[in-house]
Amino acid sequence: MSKVFVFDHPLIQHKLTYIRDKATGTKEFRELVDEVAGLMAFEITRDLPTQDVTVETPVGTAKSKTIAGKKLGLVPILRAGLGMVDGILRMIPAAKVGHVGLYRDPETLKPVEYYVKLPTDVNERELIVIDPMLATGGSAIDAITSIKKRGATTIKLMCLVAAPEGVQAVQEAHPDVDIYLAALDEKLNEKGYIVPGLGDAGDRLFGTK
Ligand code: PRP
Ligand code: URA
Repeated sequence: MSKVFVFDHPLIQHKLTYIRDKATGTKEFRELVDEVAGLMAFEITRDLPTQDVTVETPVGTAKSKTIAGKKLGLVPILRAGLGMVDGILRMIPAAKVGHVGLYRDPETLKPVEYYVKLPTDVNERELIVIDPMLATGGSAIDAITSIKKRGATTIKLMCLVAAPEGVQAVQEAHPDVDIYLAALDEKLNEKGYIVPGLGDAGDRLFGTK
């Protein structure tokens, strides 16, 4: 079974409070999601392997480290995952970015895939699938299935807010994928929204609706 990590860092929790607040407007919402994504990238990369190197400083030779192992890739789930890309790229500028386009049918709540484009060397990269919301889990499950079909083998899932139902569904469908969250909320409502959640992440990010 995969692991679930909820980042309790005070900066992440502080900013998440304002992301949740219905009084927060689009501009501020977008900035906060970007900032939290960057802070989460800091935490999610904690276990990256490093290698020992030496470097010449202006004063002498320092024993130091660089990141080793697989190169990284980000896979935002469109649309709302886009809001987290730049914040993560500021921390991991060498990461390549693939995209999976899915929307959740409002009637059936089932995801509908409309676009997939991944880096050509996807099988050699550690991929982080990103989406602010993990509700029923349908979108994340399908996105992960889709990238596995195209060769991805090492995958993490990073979301801002999740419902227990979505976490369990992803764990059952993809037991090899660890899940990284800023918050694990109470439940889903009858429309498949996370309670208390933050509302519709795509609409709040892009000012639609
Ligand atoms: C939202 C969200 C996730 C999905 C989560 O996207 O960004 O992708 O719903 O729900 P699930 O876990 O039940 O699948 P939405 O379908 O609203 O599309 P959008 O990002 O284009 O607005
Ligand atoms: N998608 C969202 O944007 N918000 C939710 O609460 C559930 C799915």
